[in-house]
Amino acid sequence: MKKKWIFIDLVLTMAALGIVLRFVSVDAPRSSAKPPPRKCASTSSPQSQPSKTADGEPLASCEDLDAIQAAYEKEIRPIFEAKCLMCHGNVDKMPLYSKIPPFSWLVQSDIDEAKEHHDMSFGFPFSGKKYDVPQDGLEDLIDDVQESSMPPPIYLVAHWKSRLTPEESQKILKWANDGLKALND
Ligand code: HEC
Repeated sequence: MKKKWIFIDLVLTMAALGIVLRFVSVDAPRSSAKPPPRKCASTSSPQSQPSKTADGEPLASCEDLDAIQAAYEKEIRPIFEAKCLMCHGNVDKMPLYSKIPPFSWLVQSDIDEAKEHHDMSFGFPFSGKKYDVPQDGLEDLIDDVQESSMPPPIYLVAHWKSRLTPEESQKILKWANDGLKALND
């Protein structure tokens, strides 16, 4: 009889601990990273900047980038704030478990990898190790949203409300496709 109670006690303690770790948030440290330099050509003063990237690709127009960024801030950033920026950018609060080993090691390696591939810390254009032009970041985003591959499934186990709703996915796809069209015209 005694053994059974110890077991039940243990299970209850683990469940309580799990709930505390998942639902208690702590302040996230402010990142000291600086935004990357913006590369674009201004149509109002075309002489002031080169019009091609180092690889010979035409530079995006600063006016197009501004318009896409403004729409991002208004419509897309609030969605990403709740569902993506914990790994791909900066958030004010992190779940308590993200501070406690071994979870903290997993979380940190996820964040490092997420930002290396697709960094949204400074809004649009996104930076990433294989992004030469702003269109690259939009194309990767479109692929992942269409395949519902982000957030990663393991993250959804603990953060089940972080899955993108069909309405959110549509909004993101429309914004990204409009942006691609403006940049490729
Ligand atoms: C738990 C952390 C985590 C969350 C939350 C998360 N991602 Fe990611 N993301 C990653 C990691 C790790 C990678 C790099 C490895 C990979 O591609 O699977 C990545 C890669 C990406 C890439 C680049 C893919 C490529 O082809 O290189 C995009 C785009 C992306 N994520 C979008 C999102 C969006 C949009 C959301 C929110 C809806 C999101 N992610 C939420 C961890 C995360």
